[in-house]
Amino acid sequence: SNLTDWIRSDKYHNHFLIPPNDALTAALKLSEQNQLSSYAVSEAQGKFLNLVAKSIQALRILEIGTLAGYSTIWLANALPDDGELVTCEISEDFAKIAQININNAGLMDKVKIIVGPAMTTLPNINPNASFDLAFIDADKQSNVEYFIQAKRLVRKRGVIIVDNVVRNGRVADPNQNDPHIEGVRKLLEYIKNDSTVEATTLGTAGEKGYDGFLYAVNMSSIN
Ligand code: DHB
Ligand code: MG
Repeated sequence: SNLTDWIRSDKYHNHFLIPPNDALTAALKLSEQNQLSSYAVSEAQGKFLNLVAKSIQALRILEIGTLAGYSTIWLANALPDDGELVTCEISEDFAKIAQININNAGLMDKVKIIVGPAMTTLPNINPNASFDLAFIDADKQSNVEYFIQAKRLVRKRGVIIVDNVVRNGRVADPNQNDPHIEGVRKLLEYIKNDSTVEATTLGTAGEKGYDGFLYAVNMSSIN
């Protein structure tokens, strides 16, 4: 199958399972106008993130890599009235676009964007305000550092999901050595050696081609 078939496949499934949402459609449109939409999760993946958050009754969610806020909206829509989502974005310009999309979705009271490199801002977040779920979708070179921070901040049995861990099979291709691919490999190696985390890769085929989420559960007893 080629990408056109997978786009059709996603559309087919989505039209049964995912009702149209004006704020999400508007967010994607603004994202496209700023050449950011190819980096956003797919609609089906967004719904999956939303359902995970609902399943674990997440009250606090951490996101690393806001971009235009598309996944942010999917995740924040799963929160109860007193829920909170903290999202880290390195680019002031992207954060501005995301804030427009978040406001348009009526989520401004639940979502807080922290602007700056997550490598610097994450260590300042107090671990006492523990998170139920973290979604990592930023620069792939820093995946390990982000994962360590997410694990510090996510409660025991909390979930950490990492985007783009398959990359059309390139992560497993020994001839591929770009830093983004290496960043995913280093994360897999890190998790292999961390006995306090359990994880699996969920490969996906859809409108974004072949890729996958890493789904990890924090089994440490520290939090
Ligand atoms: C890229 C990054 C992403 O987070 C994504 O979902 C797709 C592509 C990229 O850097 O190319
Ligand atoms: Mg991504």
